[in-house]
Amino acid sequence: MNVLVVKANNRPATEAISSKMYETFMAELEGKDVNVTVYDVYEEDTPYFGQDLFNAFGKVQNGGELTDVESRLLSAKQKAMDLLTAADVVVFAFPLWNLTIPAKLQTFIDYVYAAGFAFKYDAQGNMIQLMTDKKAIFLNARGGIYSTPEAAPMEMAVNYMRAVFGGVFGMQIIDEVIIEGHNAMPDKAQEIISSGMEEVKASAQRLVDLAVKA
Ligand SMILES: Cc1cc2nc3c(=O)[nH]c(=O)nc-3n(C[C@H](O)[C@H](O)[C@H](O)COP(=O)(O)O)c2cc1C
Repeated sequence: MNVLVVKANNRPATEAISSKMYETFMAELEGKDVNVTVYDVYEEDTPYFGQDLFNAFGKVQNGGELTDVESRLLSAKQKAMDLLTAADVVVFAFPLWNLTIPAKLQTFIDYVYAAGFAFKYDAQGNMIQLMTDKKAIFLNARGGIYSTPEAAPMEMAVNYMRAVFGGVFGMQIIDEVIIEGHNAMPDKAQEIISSGMEEVKASAQRLVDLAVKA
């Protein structure tokens, strides 16, 4: 079983809870029979998605010398797509920042969110998910509380990830571990974080069990 772990926070695990979730998850997989590849969105050279990419496609089709940014975009996009293609399970460790995901994770999504790759339309105009054979796990931290019905619609990190990888790509989301409220309730922060990390370990263990069965 091939597991792709997308790490989407470059703050140190001593400070950032979602980085700590990533480290905790990885530590549980150590020495286990799981083939893990890490894609660190902050380590990759990932120019922003935009017209440069469409210009690059045009040049690939019709000839023309690629600019530096065009060739970097093409190879970064290809790498992201190849990693996703090879993965059976994709694990995302990401924070809620400013109500959404970090821009570097957004760029990864921009690279792989492609018609004919992640989804397609049939002759009737229905959207067809193309990644229904893959599974996803979300590890997320958010300092406020967004699990109440009033606050949930404001949250655009987990909601967005569900829409993209579950709703459009068709991956089965097998686990979501969300640590929330540690900033809103500082007196309960230690308890919230440590019980959340236990959930992260349990999620990693479920993945190991899944790999054994595969
Ligand atoms: C740049 C930045 C933006 C943040 N924006 C929000 C926010 O919009 N809502 C919220 O509840 N917490 C916010 N937080 C707190 C984080 O959600 C909290 O630190 C959580 O643990 C996830 O981020 P971390 O993994 O970097 O710690 C923000 C933190 C940072 C560093």
